[in-house]
Amino acid sequence: MGRSKYQDFKKPKRCGMCHREIYQEWKQSLMAKSFTHAWDDVEYFKLALPHALKFAKVAGAKGDCIACHAPVAFLSGDIPPKSPTADTRANEGVSCEVCHNITGTTQKIPYNFNYIIKPGRVKQGPRKNVKALHPVEYNPFLKTPEFCATCHDEQSPYGAWVKETYREWKAGPYAKEGTTCQDCHMYSGPGSVSRGRFHKDMAHHVLHGAHFSNKLAGAVDIAMYAKKKEVAPGSTLKFRVELFNGKVGHYIPSGSTEERMLWLEVWAEDSAGHKYFVPVDKKGFKGENYTIADSNALAYQAMGEIMGIKGFKGVKRDGDVPDGARIFRKPFFDPKGRMTICQWYTKDNSLVDYRIGPRETKVESYTWNVPTNVAPGPVTIKATLYYSLVPSSVGKFLKLPPSEYTGKVVNVGSLKLKVVKQ
Ligand code: HEC
Ligand code: HEC
Ligand code: HEC
Ligand code: HEC
Ligand code: HEC
Repeated sequence: MGRSKYQDFKKPKRCGMCHREIYQEWKQSLMAKSFTHAWDDVEYFKLALPHALKFAKVAGAKGDCIACHAPVAFLSGDIPPKSPTADTRANEGVSCEVCHNITGTTQKIPYNFNYIIKPGRVKQGPRKNVKALHPVEYNPFLKTPEFCATCHDEQSPYGAWVKETYREWKAGPYAKEGTTCQDCHMYSGPGSVSRGRFHKDMAHHVLHGAHFSNKLAGAVDIAMYAKKKEVAPGSTLKFRVELFNGKVGHYIPSGSTEERMLWLEVWAEDSAGHKYFVPVDKKGFKGENYTIADSNALAYQAMGEIMGIKGFKGVKRDGDVPDGARIFRKPFFDPKGRMTICQWYTKDNSLVDYRIGPRETKVESYTWNVPTNVAPGPVTIKATLYYSLVPSSVGKFLKLPPSEYTGKVVNVGSLKLKVVKQ
């Protein structure tokens, strides 16, 4: 901390004068908003920072959050930075200068911002023999997933792995095939790398993740199977839904696993337009109750504790997800054993991991008790997979913009059957 000064780093706009396309891509990505955007602002200033100031065990959060979310502020010793409204240079987030001054890491398997940053005129780049208008150094590290791991894997002060996108990738099929983070998140294609200069294979800086509906859409395939084509009122119908993660190089959800929600809602709709919710069949694995929506379950009590709200009982663990829907998640627990979205205050998250791994298929069984008054004729059973960045209950409690907690559709599957009288 404090080894450099803000002046050692150029503003992204400066780089953008020549690298116009890359600048525009970066500007639209979350990298440019990692300090300013609403949820980051709220979590740091309303939860993590006050917590760090009053509870020694998590005191490090004060600077740690900044080391990944506004590294230039961290390196300049501007801790804690002023709020985004003050428009300081912390607002630059993960800027050009952060990534292009990273020369390596102090670890073999990086995590917790153990990047090595050497500010200066020389920019680290992915190509050999480039004739730039400033000094560049060819650095193969930029093309490696370990480069991303410096910020994308994180261990809490209690030793729990609270972010492990790199480790998930490494253990999965894509690492073996040589498909990197950059291949999927910084696609190579035609682009103007600098004013008047083009590459057929420019590294695009879109860096889309879960904040972009298009990146999420179709990330998981859904197929549905039933043995029958016809059902009678009052009978039961068994069917299954298979979810295949064929596009994500790590688990879905990944990254901020403590707060991401991925859930499957199954509804039957009869010819009269009546809708019937179908709950998932239980499988009986350890910790399963955390993966089935329950509107009576409360969680996230640490938020109230940190904010000094007396008698705070928590908010709904599963937001507005209908009771009985399957939630694909890995719950995090604080030292008092309560489910938490405070990753810095996470003691353990080993109870259950029910997310969908890379190229994994999850099979969910359902039993529909067909109502006696169901309308005759066609009936459609629809399975919709939703994703939200934070549970809606947490979003509403912290007054985040609705876009932060509204469920986005990942995919939809359906079965068409017929209701016949027996
Ligand atoms: C005056 C124009 C100009 C400015 C300002 C500028 N660059 Fe460049 N930069 C270039 C040109 C030209 C190239 C060569 C592009 C090519 O042919 O691949 C280049 C190449 C690069 C490369 C790629 C090296 C490689 O291995 O392919 C990086 C990284 C880079 N610049 C980063 C930056 C950063 C970060 C800033 C802001 C601090 C910046 N540049 C500002 C003109 C500029
Ligand atoms: C999150 C880290 C990160 C940020 C932020 C970032 N870059 Fe990069 N940049 C990379 C990586 C990684 C590569 C190499 C990717 C590859 O080749 O697969 C790269 C490649 C480049 C290249 C060479 C492209 C090519 O194909 O020749 C230029 C030029 C560049 N970046 C400029 C910038 C500028 C300008 C900004 C800010 C507007 C910026 N970068 C922000 C990580 C970053
Ligand atoms: C200096 C730290 C740092 C490095 C290095 C870094 N990231 Fe990130 N990245 C972040 C932070 C911080 C966020 C969270 C932004 C937010 O939502 O506030 C993030 C978010 C993301 C997201 C989610 C965006 C979304 O739309 O939800 C993706 C994807 C991503 N990074 C990919 C990469 C890849 C690929 C690399 C390596 C080429 C990389 N990052 C390197 C810090 C970093
Ligand atoms: C095979 C392609 C692929 C590879 C390889 C890949 N990703 Fe992703 N990544 C995706 C897709 C698709 C999504 C959007 C779905 C989602 O959010 O999980 C995504 C989402 C993300 C997110 C947002 C996760 C969330 O739920 O908030 C982050 C962060 C991320 N990737 C970082 C990385 C990093 C770091 C690596 C390398 C260690 C990597 N990705 C490798 C395809 C890939
Ligand atoms: C080791 C680096 C690292 C540290 C330390 C870190 N973060 Fe992050 N943070 C990230 C990355 C990378 C992501 C993106 C993960 C994803 O997209 O799922 C992220 C995502 C987030 C998000 C979700 C943003 C969104 O748009 O949904 C919030 C909020 C956040 N961090 C706040 C914090 C706070 C507060 C702290 C300190 C207690 C902190 N982070 C510490 C790297 C870090």
